[in-house]
Amino acid sequence: MQADIAKILFPREQIAQRVDDLAGEIVRAYDLETNADLVLVSILSGALIFTADLMRRLPQPMRIGLITVSAYRGATTESRGARVLRELDVDVTDRHVLLVDDILDTGGTLRLVRERLLLARPRSLRTCVLLRKPSKAPIDLPVDFVGFDIDNEFVVGYGLDYNDLYRNLPDIGVLKKELYSC
Ligand code: XMP
Repeated sequence: MQADIAKILFPREQIAQRVDDLAGEIVRAYDLETNADLVLVSILSGALIFTADLMRRLPQPMRIGLITVSAYRGATTESRGARVLRELDVDVTDRHVLLVDDILDTGGTLRLVRERLLLARPRSLRTCVLLRKPSKAPIDLPVDFVGFDIDNEFVVGYGLDYNDLYRNLPDIGVLKKELYSC
């Protein structure tokens, strides 16, 4: 797997440090009153590892909700729209929701999940992404917490995949161009 990576963007130590800092920002953003009703909604499968690390750094009581979304990518890196594969498994009505995703690219995935969540009338809705591609992310899609901004390169590792592979790489890296089609 390592041989397929053109360059490491974020080594595991840097990711761990940034997740620590993000957790601090999140703790400060939610006051004690909201804690009891906090639901952390994770978008699978990409946010699996990020969520597992982030939630263990948040001391407040919380429920976890999972929703599985496919970005319709297949064996290409180009998103062709998002679709829900498995619906959210927790009630978010009148609760404070923190939506967690791996990466904000074109925004199709986050937009789809946000719209679904809002239908259930949460008390508040904030969004946290580990990575964001500012050159592609739409300006009308708000994110409250961002780990790192990156260039428009296709990245894998730490939960992010290409064709369902590389999720278990502990670092985040850029995949060699000859290995994928756009
Ligand atoms: P959109 O375009 O909907 O993309 O914002 C979000 C979802 O697509 C996946 N994605 C990526 N996966 N490297 C990946 O491994 C990338 O560079 C990348 N860009 C988008 C990811 O699952 C994300 O939730």
